[in-house]
Amino acid sequence: MNSLPLKVQRITKTFGGLTAVGGISFEITDGEFVGLIGPNGCGKSTVFNCISGLLPVNSGDIQVFGTPSSDLRPDQIQRLGLTRTFQHTRLWMGMTVIENLLVPPRQQFAPNRLLSLFRPGSRKEELARIEHAYAVLETLEISHMAHNLANELSGGQSKLVDLGRALMGDPRMLLLDEPVAGVAAPLAEKIFSNLRKLASEQGTSVLVVEHNMNFILRTGVDRVIVMDRGEILMQGTPDEVRQNSDVVAAYLGGTEKRSK
Ligand SMILES: Nc1ncnc2c1ncn2[C@@H]1O[C@H](COP(=O)(O)OP(=O)(O)O)[C@@H](O)[C@H]1O
Ligand SMILES: [Mg+2]
Repeated sequence: MNSLPLKVQRITKTFGGLTAVGGISFEITDGEFVGLIGPNGCGKSTVFNCISGLLPVNSGDIQVFGTPSSDLRPDQIQRLGLTRTFQHTRLWMGMTVIENLLVPPRQQFAPNRLLSLFRPGSRKEELARIEHAYAVLETLEISHMAHNLANELSGGQSKLVDLGRALMGDPRMLLLDEPVAGVAAPLAEKIFSNLRKLASEQGTSVLVVEHNMNFILRTGVDRVIVMDRGEILMQGTPDEVRQNSDVVAAYLGGTEKRSK
């Protein structure tokens, strides 16, 4: 059976009296590279938190690779093939960059997954994982920092290590929350072109939050979902988004600027 990687149907999420997500629906298909954009505070990270099982929705349904996920824990959703990163990265600060790639991140994995680290796997498997980790760092252009401690990294470098961690598990679907915030423009563009390749060549579905609209529109995403105040303002190709006056108005209506 060929299930959609992600199907979100009429989900709502409120915090007290605030409706952060107001009944939105969208789908992501196999190998699709999709941008999720919208002004600060419009609900993008909350959508990610609901999809990845960190926050319960108030209503609506989410299916991940055909499995209803509303009652699943984050680690169970991760095992369905969905890996996410966070807007605010939390690396293992006392560990090196390469160690951070070899240890599962905190939020999306059951704590006992860590125990597997201390169980000796086959030596061949271990070596393959370490080689994979170095290859991932190479793609992200931070292999020279493999043995630096995470707490020596800049904000942008931390984002890259976090992205590297997400790539380590060979996910079938990636949710990336502002993966290149603080990363210099030329590298940010290269990373997006690698994500483009990952989607086209390996069929990985990628949903990426980016708050710089001009940047996302020229990075080769297949489709853009534009949110505003908890709702979907429009979905379309980068060209369609560029031509939509509502989108332009939402962005001019009080968002922060980011130069890149
Ligand atoms: N855990 C939370 N508790 C209360 N309010 C929250 C929480 N998470 C997000 N919000 C609020 O929900 C709205 C959407 O936030 P968020 O999803 O982080 O927006 P975005 O990622 O688009 O900037 C904001 O008004 C924010 O303050
Ligand atoms: Mg956010």
